[in-house]
Amino acid sequence: MKLLITGSNGLLGQKLVANCISQGIDFHAISSGENRNTECPIAQYTSVDITDYRAVNTVIETWSFTHIIHTAAMTNVDACELNPTQCFNVNHRASQHLFEISIKKNIHFTLLSSDFVFDGETGNYSETDEPNPLSIYGKSKWLAEQELIYSGYTNWAIARTIIVYGVGHQLNKSNVFSWLLKELSEGNEVSLITDHYRAPTWAEDLASGCMSIVKHQHTGIFHICGPETISIFEIGIRIAKYLKVSAQLIKPIEANQLNQPAPRPPRTGFNVTKARTLLGYQPHTIEETLGSI
Ligand SMILES: NC(=O)c1ccc[n+]([C@@H]2O[C@H](COP(=O)([O-])OP(=O)(O)OC[C@H]3O[C@@H](n4cnc5c(N)ncnc54)[C@H](OP(=O)(O)O)[C@@H]3O)[C@@H](O)[C@H]2O)c1
Repeated sequence: MKLLITGSNGLLGQKLVANCISQGIDFHAISSGENRNTECPIAQYTSVDITDYRAVNTVIETWSFTHIIHTAAMTNVDACELNPTQCFNVNHRASQHLFEISIKKNIHFTLLSSDFVFDGETGNYSETDEPNPLSIYGKSKWLAEQELIYSGYTNWAIARTIIVYGVGHQLNKSNVFSWLLKELSEGNEVSLITDHYRAPTWAEDLASGCMSIVKHQHTGIFHICGPETISIFEIGIRIAKYLKVSAQLIKPIEANQLNQPAPRPPRTGFNVTKARTLLGYQPHTIEETLGSI
């Protein structure tokens, strides 16, 4: 096996690199900037903008990959809403390009996708539920997914996930958990949404789910998230309890008070039965993970 990991500077990408190193899996990693993942050997890293197809082709021709995990994406949902052309170029077109190469070379291709492909009206989504994205980010992910689903090629997987949290080396953005741990431990007040529900996913769990897909060459769509769907406000309450700080620091607000550019699905959360059964996926609770982030 020779695995290409895209987005290796990102939170999930870093966990995938760590998994490959600990399991002795041969890999090469790419991301847009310099290698900020200190665990990734420099010889196994190339700085590549995935919208630069010539540079992508060069990497693909240099090594004979058998598998690709494609995590690189424009992940700031509001930035996507404000820059739709860039969002579609990175999340849809560049993914399509990588997938077309995979078809030509019979590479197993895993695409990371999101709960934002759903409209959030019902929640607890299964892999067979019909997407209906609300935001530009969600639409870009759903367009990328459809390239795989309707391709006629079958050697692919889609791993959809929800609010990924954890720690990494020089990440270019914080996640809601790292932000809350910092603010609440410093005694700062935070405002958190009471009417949006998510199933936060520990990055280590997501990485092991993705590695299981790759190692066993699973195909099809997989929902991979944490075991509980709770409000963003409740995430803050759990972290306050863990830190033993007053829950009074957390001020309840409703989503529409934030005036965020991108519309968001009110209630997501996944049914992860398929991942548990086929991937041996065993997600940790928030409380089980807080000590290690
Ligand atoms: N995080 C979440 O809450 C969440 C939820 C649902 C789905 N997902 C999906 O899961 C995947 C991994 O998420 P993550 O949290 O690990 O994301 P992340 O931390 O934002 O990392 C994404 C990485 O993609 C790289 N990238 C962005 N544009 C690129 C380009 N044009 N060329 C090459 N690399 C580029 C960036 O590399 P540089 O740092 O080098 O610029 C960045 O490190 C993404 O596909 C995301 O859409 C994430």
